[in-house]
Amino acid sequence: MPEFVPDARAEALREKYGFDIIPRDGLEVLIEAAVAAPRKRILEIGTSVGYSALCLATATGAHVDTVERDAGKLDVAKKLWAACGASNNITAYLGDAERVVPELVKRHKYDFVFIDAAKSKYCGYLDAIYDFIDTGTVIVADDVNFLGLVKGDGYPPHKHRTIVTGMRRFVRAITDASRFECTMSDVGGGIAVCTKI
Ligand SMILES: C[S@@+](CC[C@H](N)C(=O)[O-])C[C@H]1O[C@@H](n2cnc3c(N)ncnc32)[C@H](O)[C@@H]1O
Repeated sequence: MPEFVPDARAEALREKYGFDIIPRDGLEVLIEAAVAAPRKRILEIGTSVGYSALCLATATGAHVDTVERDAGKLDVAKKLWAACGASNNITAYLGDAERVVPELVKRHKYDFVFIDAAKSKYCGYLDAIYDFIDTGTVIVADDVNFLGLVKGDGYPPHKHRTIVTGMRRFVRAITDASRFECTMSDVGGGIAVCTKI
């Protein structure tokens, strides 16, 4: 695969929003999975300032629907997409993904899904999309190692308990070999690439 080079205007956002943007090594895994087959429509859950949505739209040529609950971040994202000439290829939905995603999957057929929003809610997102996606649809999820606390069955620190418990349930769901083919990578915060079977 030729190396994917993110737009410099997107890359510049890392200085201010880096904590909220997929790490570069995770991006490589995401884009490699996204371009492995032709894609028509991509769902992204967790837009932040629009970095990964722009990369997905640019690398695949597919339309990206992306969901974010923070209006301020979406404003930054929309300016980025406009500056990069990508506004027509990306549709942003402002709202809580728990409410918006079930509506989107009824309206559109997605062949690629990137989950990168509330870490404790990944299982809910998966449940919302599962029945609406076809066999062969790829789901990529970021931060599945969450601070290295997800692997094993150790008791998580109190302040991370909801996230770690939720993420462990999500990892069990995507590694269920009767439902998904899944590969997990430790790059970034841990990234999973799963294909519905
Ligand atoms: C890690 S950032 C997304 C980064 C982005 N995918 C990228 O790499 O450029 C996670 C985003 O999910 C958003 N988020 C968290 N919980 C959400 C929810 N329940 N509904 C919608 N957005 C949510 C946060 O506001 C945050 O901007």
